[in-house]
Amino acid sequence: MNKQLIVVSLLLIASFANAQAQQQQQQQQQQQQQQPPQCAQNASPQQGNCICNPGYWGTNANKGGSCTQCTAYTWSAPGATNTGPSVTAVSACQACAPGYYVTGAGSASVSPTCQPCGNNSSPSQPQAGSTVQKISSCNSCMPGYYMNQVANTSAGSEASAQCTTCGATSGATPSAPPSQVGDLSQCNACQPGYFMTAVANTTNKTASSCSQCPSSSSSKLQTNVGDVSACQCFDPFALPLGANQKTCACKNSSETPLSAPGSAAGCSAPSFGKIVSYSLAIISLIILI
Ligand SMILES: *[C@@H]1O[C@H](CO)[C@@H](O)[C@H](O)[C@H]1NC(C)=O
Ligand SMILES: *[C@@H]1O[C@H](CO)[C@@H](O)[C@H](O)[C@H]1NC(C)=O
Ligand SMILES: *[C@@H]1O[C@H](CO)[C@@H](O)[C@H](O)[C@H]1NC(C)=O
Ligand SMILES: *[C@@H]1O[C@H](CO)[C@@H](O)[C@H](O)[C@H]1NC(C)=O
Ligand SMILES: *[C@@H]1O[C@H](CO)[C@@H](O)[C@H](O)[C@H]1NC(C)=O
Repeated sequence: MNKQLIVVSLLLIASFANAQAQQQQQQQQQQQQQQPPQCAQNASPQQGNCICNPGYWGTNANKGGSCTQCTAYTWSAPGATNTGPSVTAVSACQACAPGYYVTGAGSASVSPTCQPCGNNSSPSQPQAGSTVQKISSCNSCMPGYYMNQVANTSAGSEASAQCTTCGATSGATPSAPPSQVGDLSQCNACQPGYFMTAVANTTNKTASSCSQCPSSSSSKLQTNVGDVSACQCFDPFALPLGANQKTCACKNSSETPLSAPGSAAGCSAPSFGKIVSYSLAIISLIILI
């Protein structure tokens, strides 16, 4: 055998071994970074940690802790204020839930009092409990509803907005909380958990058409026509959804993808390192022969 060829082969094997070590290291880092934490019920993974969902509070949202719903229509913003060792129901639940307005101010020792807006209306954002509001602050609609009458702010005649459903199970919703009277075509987006199959039509006053994401997946609010690839499986290692993959599945068919964000089990991490190593081994073998 040619000496040069042997040298080249040895170099290749050396670089292959090095590449393999690097791959393994990267893989370990990837797993540490990407393996989703296991979250308590009503919590979601966020940057390698678990945070109680909006409207919940908890002392430890990682496995072993719990997240409890705010009571009496109060609400919490997710983050440091609703999850942590010193968080309490009162400290976390300092806003009113969507569809409710503040009738009694909250403080460090008491949660605000919240009353329903009625007629499917809502403030455009959950109200901070620190300031008492009038019912006319219910000047927008709940997700999945369009506006058929604006709120009345006239002193003595205050009233909430009035809102009508985009279609009970259609998934259609306005792309932003409405502030003006509209018709069904105000429902020009699809709610999280849906993808859009047809746009809303202002001429014939129809809402956008939406289809539900496959089970174990969800989407963000959709404002453009798309397909199932707009939905993401909760499992970060599941096969990506698309024209040829319409359900959430693992590459290894004997595994089951996560059914909720941050739940246990799921698909195992793909081993790119192995594929690269095998290819390099085969190349080295061909050159040696
Ligand atoms: C809802 O709208 C109807 C019709 O305008 C009104 O009579 C009723 O008071 C409203 N409900 C609430 C809770 O504001
Ligand atoms: C508010 O209510 C008053 C009294 O009923 C009425 O005259 C006025 O037109 C209403 N305004 C709106 C914006 O509905
Ligand atoms: C809206 O509907 C009208 C009447 O059916 C139709 O002519 C038009 O092309 C539609 N527009 C869009 C954007 O689909
Ligand atoms: C209204 O517009 C939508 C979207 O373009 C279309 O799918 C639907 O067929 C139209 N309906 C009528 C009655 O024209
Ligand atoms: C597929 O998953 C099963 C169950 O976790 C495991 O026993 C098996 O070794 C996996 N197969 C491959 C090819 O990774």
